[in-house]
Amino acid sequence: MKNILKVENLVKRFGNLRAVDNVSLEVPEKSIVLLIGPNGSGKTTLLNCIAGIYKPDEGRIWFNGKDITGKKPHEIVKLGVMKTFQIPAVFSSLSTAENLLVFYRGNPGEKLLNSFFKKKWLRDEEMATEKMVKTLKMLELASQCNRRANELSGGQLKLLEYSKILMSDATLCLLDEPVGSINPVLANKIFTYITDARNSMGKTFIIVEHRLDIAVKYADYIYVLVNGKILCEGKPEEVLKRKELYDVYLSPLVA
Ligand SMILES: Nc1ncnc2c1ncn2[C@@H]1O[C@H](COP(=O)(O)OP(=O)(O)O)[C@@H](O)[C@H]1O
Ligand SMILES: [Mg+2]
Repeated sequence: MKNILKVENLVKRFGNLRAVDNVSLEVPEKSIVLLIGPNGSGKTTLLNCIAGIYKPDEGRIWFNGKDITGKKPHEIVKLGVMKTFQIPAVFSSLSTAENLLVFYRGNPGEKLLNSFFKKKWLRDEEMATEKMVKTLKMLELASQCNRRANELSGGQLKLLEYSKILMSDATLCLLDEPVGSINPVLANKIFTYITDARNSMGKTFIIVEHRLDIAVKYADYIYVLVNGKILCEGKPEEVLKRKELYDVYLSPLVA
């Protein structure tokens, strides 16, 4: 299977702290990879480096064989990499439906030039609307379409954040705690949507998640990050057997 992402000897420093410390990893196309580890172990920083939000200090990142190290976030989005945020980053005064239209990749409203080509513009608008309706239905958000984002529940906001993935054409999706602090029924539902997007759209996922009880059963492969370094990696059934994993998660409790 082809690797969609390759990270080699990546380092990201904040002052003297090596938040990401010489990380190398490979992500096969159409896989669901879980990135776990205690608080402050560098998971978000690693995703931010891949998405171009942070510029790495050392190392290289290849996406589909193309070196994307140090590229700007919008350039990386254009290539097909999309990151969602732990705290939903949505437009609170816009409706659910309007938010989805903003997330639509290649929103024609942005390009003045397109307004001179009315036919194309109308077709783009039609496609965006179609995709929005389909996505709202898929995520069971249709009944919320006219509600403003700031009136949605925590769970609905998580769904709205995830809808960015479906509204974009992204092939590599970086999800930062997509089911954090929501009920287990909805959390499992979101992981089912993720699996569906992998199976029917061929998307690849790197997911940071603390809710191991829920996330592990959907993962093909797991990386464990501790103090910015990869402690161990492997298939879920192998990684869950590793003693180091328990040491890392339990030692703060008995200290
Ligand atoms: N923008 C920043 N400036 C300074 N330090 C940061 C910044 N972002 C993260 N850190 C530090 O880097 C380390 C890793 O953080 P983070 O990647 O958020 O961890 P995780 O997502 O695994 O909880 C932490 O010690 C955190 O305090
Ligand atoms: Mg984090």
